[in-house]
Amino acid sequence: MAYNLLKGKRGIIFGALDSNSIAWKTAESVHAEGGTFVLTNAPVAMRMGQIEDLAEKTGSQIIPADATSEEDLKNLVEKSIEILGGKLDFVLHSIGMSVNVRKGRSYTDEKYDFTTKGWDVSALSFHKVLQSLYKADAMTEWGSIVALSYMAAQRTFPDYNDMADNKAYLESVARSFGYHYGKSKKVRVNTISQSPTATKAGQGVKGFDGFINYANQMSPLGNATAQDCADYTITLFSDLTRKVTMQNLFHDGGFSNTGVSQEVIEKFSH
Ligand SMILES: NC(=O)c1ccc[n+]([C@@H]2O[C@H](COP(=O)([O-])OP(=O)(O)OC[C@H]3O[C@@H](n4cnc5c(N)ncnc54)[C@H](O)[C@@H]3O)[C@@H](O)[C@H]2O)c1
Repeated sequence: MAYNLLKGKRGIIFGALDSNSIAWKTAESVHAEGGTFVLTNAPVAMRMGQIEDLAEKTGSQIIPADATSEEDLKNLVEKSIEILGGKLDFVLHSIGMSVNVRKGRSYTDEKYDFTTKGWDVSALSFHKVLQSLYKADAMTEWGSIVALSYMAAQRTFPDYNDMADNKAYLESVARSFGYHYGKSKKVRVNTISQSPTATKAGQGVKGFDGFINYANQMSPLGNATAQDCADYTITLFSDLTRKVTMQNLFHDGGFSNTGVSQEVIEKFSH
């Protein structure tokens, strides 16, 4: 159901790779709510994914950008304002990748070149995006910027590996930049801490099936899906949440505040 919550709003959506991506679902929902946007992803993802289909469906243009490249981001911001015909009201950072995870290195056997690269892509890129927008004065007052996180930033999930550290950094950037952006331009910056979700990035985590089923059984409302996350993100892009900033917002069906569920107790009862 659409409410026209984003009518007349313009933005940039990072990270739609395929139809499972959280960013993909968000782009579809933003479109349904009347928002217009530029889609972007790393040049390599252009070849792997199906982003053209999404662009066609939502009447959007695509500008490739590596989120670790300041030059690419500068170009992306300038061109987006030109294409959309004005400053931006919303930005979604939906980017994550760990080279250590990809190469099967455990947390106690990190290769630090991999660690640095993964941190740059998954965490520092958020600061780079924010700084590019800030320096170009690209956001409207009360604009909203959202990045996606995971609870491994607060609690240990062994196979989440170095992504846990990347998410802790990401959430800290939202708080620190959120202060400066709020003070000087009235722009909101938040992270959404999402349930495990079956996407390309999610399934890269070792033992993902067990991980997602466990979370589902621990959450009174069950896991939040990618579509649920899109719906929540829409509210943060809308004018209805103008005083929400510098927050890490759990969106996980209640998982983060549940000590144990009846289902899990039963699994351990003899
Ligand atoms: N899937 C989950 O279980 C889950 C849970 C909580 C949070 N998240 C977070 O949600 C976000 C989106 O992930 P997803 O699950 O939709 O998976 P996804 O694989 O569909 O999306 C990740 C995106 O990051 C992009 N990317 C990688 N390197 C990039 C670079 N250098 N520049 C620009 N883009 C780059 C990929 O091309 C891809 O589109 C990530 O931040 C992820 O950590 C995912």
